Amino acid sequence: MKFFVDTADVKEIRELNDLGLLDGVTTNPSLILKSGRDIVEVTKEICSIVEGPVSAEVTATEYSEMMKEAAALAKIADNICIKLPLTLDGLKACKALTSDGHHTNVTLCFSANQALLAAKAGATFVSPFIGRLDDIAFDGMDLIREIRHIFDNYGYETEILAASIRTVNHVKEAALIGADVVTAPPATLKALVKHPLTDKGLEMFLADWAKTGQKIG
Ligand code: E4P
Repeated sequence: MKFFVDTADVKEIRELNDLGLLDGVTTNPSLILKSGRDIVEVTKEICSIVEGPVSAEVTATEYSEMMKEAAALAKIADNICIKLPLTLDGLKACKALTSDGHHTNVTLCFSANQALLAAKAGATFVSPFIGRLDDIAFDGMDLIREIRHIFDNYGYETEILAASIRTVNHVKEAALIGADVVTAPPATLKALVKHPLTDKGLEMFLADWAKTGQKIG
């Protein structure tokens, strides 16, 4: 499973990348707002840190405007992945951009039929939003399950990018179902390592080691 981090915070991206955990980055207009930085400047910096795809989202809603924004975003770096909303114009832009050799991420996916359309448009990634479905008392994981089933039925190569991740259990469930990628906030990715028995076990080993009076190396 690939791990993407869902942030435009360069410090966090650098830290996770240094750990060797990062396969890519996703951003969106809200995350750019949170960063307080210019979209081109911050996206360029992110692309220089991470080798994998960096999703940068268009904000136009009409096809030809989307294509203009996509051209501007694509100029930022070779690893830019153009993020497009799951609308008819977004799908049309996805098809055109994919045919031109760009990587695409169709975002704001909340149904299996929407994911099917993204796959038919040739999207590199489709982003079903788990947390936002859970928020309205749906089960986001059911959507991941349905999309996995449909894509396997037809051999679609579009990767399922489980997004709007809120908990470490979301990551585990998405992995069990077979999502190709998970994009999660930095804190959630870092929390995957935590287990109280690991902390307790390490504490005991270190205490016993100190009693031996030995040193390694
Ligand atoms: C995905 O690409 C989105 O940026 C993101 O996962 C949205 O998550 P949220 O619902 O926590 O805003």
